[in-house]
Amino acid sequence: MSEKQIQVGIIGLQGYGGTYFAVLSALPYVTVRAVCDTKEEVLNRAADKHRIPLRFTDYKKMLEDEKIDAVFIATPHFLHYRMTMDALQAGKHVFCEKPLAMNAKEAKEMVETAAERGLILSCHYNRRQSSLVKLLKDAVNKEVLGDIYAAHVKWMARYTPFMFSEDSAWRTEKSKAGGGILIGRGSHMIDAVLSVLGYPAVRSISANVCSRLTGLEVDDYCMLLLRLKNGSTVTIECSYECNLPSYKERISYQLLGTKAGAYCAEENGKETCSMGYCRFPEEEWIDISDQFSPASYQSSYPENMIADFVEALREGRKPLITGEDALYVTAVIDAAYQSAGQGREIILEENPCISVNLIKSSE
Ligand SMILES: NC(=O)c1ccc[n+]([C@@H]2O[C@H](COP(=O)([O-])OP(=O)(O)OC[C@H]3O[C@@H](n4cnc5c(N)ncnc54)[C@H](O)[C@@H]3O)[C@@H](O)[C@H]2O)c1
Repeated sequence: MSEKQIQVGIIGLQGYGGTYFAVLSALPYVTVRAVCDTKEEVLNRAADKHRIPLRFTDYKKMLEDEKIDAVFIATPHFLHYRMTMDALQAGKHVFCEKPLAMNAKEAKEMVETAAERGLILSCHYNRRQSSLVKLLKDAVNKEVLGDIYAAHVKWMARYTPFMFSEDSAWRTEKSKAGGGILIGRGSHMIDAVLSVLGYPAVRSISANVCSRLTGLEVDDYCMLLLRLKNGSTVTIECSYECNLPSYKERISYQLLGTKAGAYCAEENGKETCSMGYCRFPEEEWIDISDQFSPASYQSSYPENMIADFVEALREGRKPLITGEDALYVTAVIDAAYQSAGQGREIILEENPCISVNLIKSSE
């Protein structure tokens, strides 16, 4: 492993970008050399607090700094493509917040540009580092569940304050956010469930989205049904706001396998997981939950993803989340919006933005 000190710049500091400092400062081989934000107050506050040598309101000026190896991008969705392309063209590695881009056409160009230039591109789908996703991935890897023929994941919130915050009004504009809950949190859940299943090939997608409750320009509810090429079914349901009794927010994962099944949930901050199988014909339930306790799998985001990206730069290897993974998520989102708009099922290969060699195959 190289001992090289990695110098980074961060673009977008108000919200999630502000959480990077604590993680990066804990890594011994990284220096935050520059920060950038168009809001001067936000920029100066962060630069002063964290004693960053260079500060910019124009990210292109920051990219001229030859000492910067990598750029972290935490800006509104519509800026991800242009900022990433400019950073890659300036020879910088890129860690981009989710979603990678507004659509798969943009994402594909970003992935191809990074590959052509030998640069690392990663995207922050941090649900992968949540304890329940790590637990389920471990159970799948240990072949405890057998073949998974159905996976149902949900991120249901009764109310999501940041959707109604003036500071982040871009989230409610389709032209700036690219959509609502589907691209916002649905993208996390698509990556999470596909990563648990080993990123199998998706054959077709049927989806509905709406904003009947809030009347927002972007969707506040989405429901997707994915048919996988291996014959399995995946459903993804998410809401920013909905009339649900008993809990404020629940993230849940239900996997049905040929050997066993699992239901894991994070509800108002509390995590639970049950796993087991039914012995027929007595219908006796054999509980194996004690083999997989959520307490044994610590959530580790954003630190793990950021540390992994920096390690990938130092070791010259792929990051945990590759640009290709993030492109695939974007292709699923494109197809889901297309399905919802046209009221029909979309076969993924029909999507003209995706070339066959970017479709992963589980066969
Ligand atoms: N991975 C996660 O769990 C997670 C959580 C929250 C947000 N996010 C993602 O992070 C990104 C940012 O979201 P947020 O909630 O932090 O938004 P935000 O609105 O709070 O912050 C965005 C920042 O970008 C700055 N900005 C806008 N245009 C700019 C430009 N041209 N140059 C430089 N700076 C500019 C804004 O001034 C603001 O400070 C989004 O992609 C969002 O989806 C990810």
